[in-house]
Amino acid sequence: MDQHGRKVNPPPSGYKNHRRNMDNDTLSVNPKRFRPSHSPHRADPAPLSSSASSCRALSTRRQLYEKPFPVYKQPVEVGSFSLDSERRFFNDARQIRYFVEPPSRPDFNLRDGYKDRFVKRDDSIKEKLDHILRWILANKSKLESRVAAASSSPALGVDVVTWRGHLTKLLTTPYETREGWLLAATLFRGTLYLSEVETEASRRDTENRTERHQEMMYWGYKFEQYLCAEDMKASPDPGGVVNTNEAFCTVVQTKLADHKLLFSGEVDCRDRGPKSPAAPACYIELKTSAEICTPKQRSNFHRFKLLKWWAQSFLPGVPRIVAGFRDPDGLVVGTETIHISQISHLIKNEYNCWKPTVCMNFCCEFLSFVRTVVREDSPRVVHLFSWDPHQDVTYTVHRDSSYCFLPPWYVEGMGSPH
Ligand code: A3P
Ligand code: MG
Repeated sequence: MDQHGRKVNPPPSGYKNHRRNMDNDTLSVNPKRFRPSHSPHRADPAPLSSSASSCRALSTRRQLYEKPFPVYKQPVEVGSFSLDSERRFFNDARQIRYFVEPPSRPDFNLRDGYKDRFVKRDDSIKEKLDHILRWILANKSKLESRVAAASSSPALGVDVVTWRGHLTKLLTTPYETREGWLLAATLFRGTLYLSEVETEASRRDTENRTERHQEMMYWGYKFEQYLCAEDMKASPDPGGVVNTNEAFCTVVQTKLADHKLLFSGEVDCRDRGPKSPAAPACYIELKTSAEICTPKQRSNFHRFKLLKWWAQSFLPGVPRIVAGFRDPDGLVVGTETIHISQISHLIKNEYNCWKPTVCMNFCCEFLSFVRTVVREDSPRVVHLFSWDPHQDVTYTVHRDSSYCFLPPWYVEGMGSPH
């Protein structure tokens, strides 16, 4: 409804542009979704007492979230950062890459270089939110000056800080039937920080990956190398090394109903045309997927893959995906551009398919749930939210535990004047 009580359809893009609409529109918390859990699993010997102790679980049933699309403000890029070949942080865009249109009949072999020109990031090193926190400290005065202008209460002027990837997992939760998640939450100076914790099941899956699976994980990065140039005038260099330590990350600010969000996500490349729009609209997400040969495969692509692709790009306002379809030997048989705003049309003939509004409403209500539960403002306290498919979201409380993820340098840095 708008402020005059009329029903407002979401714009085709799904984003709201006008601040006036944003600030007048709040989404109330529906108590039916917050259920007392009768056997909350509490690992901590000394659970915190909380005024929210009656709200112990959140349902993920899709039907509960089939409501009008919540207000989601057009994401605005507030900065970016880069990680170099050794995963060192730089408060600049040095790692940005430029999209180069593929030929109509691409000759891309995604297996090339796997054995001899691949430097894989060590994913046993858990970086948590560290890079985003570094970016926040480096840009503290800029962020704080925005807050002063808005005279808002959290010191940073945002309610939630997290990775885009964590939000993607929240968006897809009502449709996820295989993989659960763990999200650690800490309230610090009025801002909620959300950082993923690896589940036991995910650790086992990583450990037991087959050689074929490990190689296929390389294919997506190799596809990026075929389509990306390092500067405005260069060409891609498929003979070079693929190093997955390198990253360019955008930092965006937006609002989901009444939650002001600041999050960062890796961006594959940007449009380099003279008429390319400002970030994040100039960004392009690159993806690979198995070649589609049958109606069943097309249906699966729509039902499962497009859900993940849509959620990942919709959140930061990346408007298009360039997809490479590959055969079982890793040869790209064709490419296609998919506009994020068209995805809901592509899936509309699928029976009982996923709905963007369910994803966004669930995420919004999860954030409200976390806000209700997490009351103590302290970097020493972590509420660990846990979800397994076909279950409710529950949580446990941990003080001074190994789950703490805001490092001392950040806590101290936020306390000191700039
Ligand atoms: P694809 O996207 O073509 O699958 P992103 O697409 O998010 O930019 O990630 C780049 C590539 O990283 C992916 O390419 C894939 O190769 C690899 N990758 C990322 N997350 C992965 C995951 N959870 N499992 C397997 N591969 C993953
Ligand atoms: Mg990609």
